[in-house]
Amino acid sequence: MATLRLGDTAPDFTQDSSIGPISFHEWLGDSWGILFSHPADYTPVCTTELGATAKLAEEFKKRNVKPIALSVDPVESHKGWITDINETQGAEVNFPIIADADRKVSELYDLIHPNASTTATVRSVFIIDPNKKIRLTLTYPASTGRNFNEILRVIDSLQLTEYHSVATPANWEDGDDVVIVPSITDPEVLKQKFPKGYKAVKPYLRLTPQPNK
Ligand code: BEZ
Repeated sequence: MATLRLGDTAPDFTQDSSIGPISFHEWLGDSWGILFSHPADYTPVCTTELGATAKLAEEFKKRNVKPIALSVDPVESHKGWITDINETQGAEVNFPIIADADRKVSELYDLIHPNASTTATVRSVFIIDPNKKIRLTLTYPASTGRNFNEILRVIDSLQLTEYHSVATPANWEDGDDVVIVPSITDPEVLKQKFPKGYKAVKPYLRLTPQPNK
């Protein structure tokens, strides 16, 4: 499988998981999704990551996002590990973990990087929109836990662009001013879409209050 790029359709698959077999596209329905991979079950960094994701369940739900994890171990191993995660992280894992023991999904999503490890999957994230298009990819080293608040921040940014025609500047946080996308130039459309007004620092750099606040 070639490397997946932004705008590609997220490959569909059917695979077993901690909650039973999942047909990915059907399971996503019209939600956004985040698919994130883990080197293996019963590893320390992954344990904290899955706990962190479980604790953000309400935040994902608010944004219509379904998280799904993947690890190249079988279902029974996942089930035992989930018990450990819940116990040690003060969380309740309420999203599926794909049991990719045959590496079918890992190959589809190019998650084995042989020069890093011939057996373990890399620590990747894919954000997928309701049209099943890949909107973000990132890959972290096995020894670095991901920042799930940053993943939520990217989802907020993508949804602001999708639903409100704005982009987000460097280090943007929820509630900060945002940037009007350059494709909108018609004064009537600007007035209608941005009733709070905007400040043109330069013709190409137009700041406006976050529209959904
Ligand atoms: C892990 O928890 O997955 C991990 C920790 C240290 C090095 C590599 C992986």
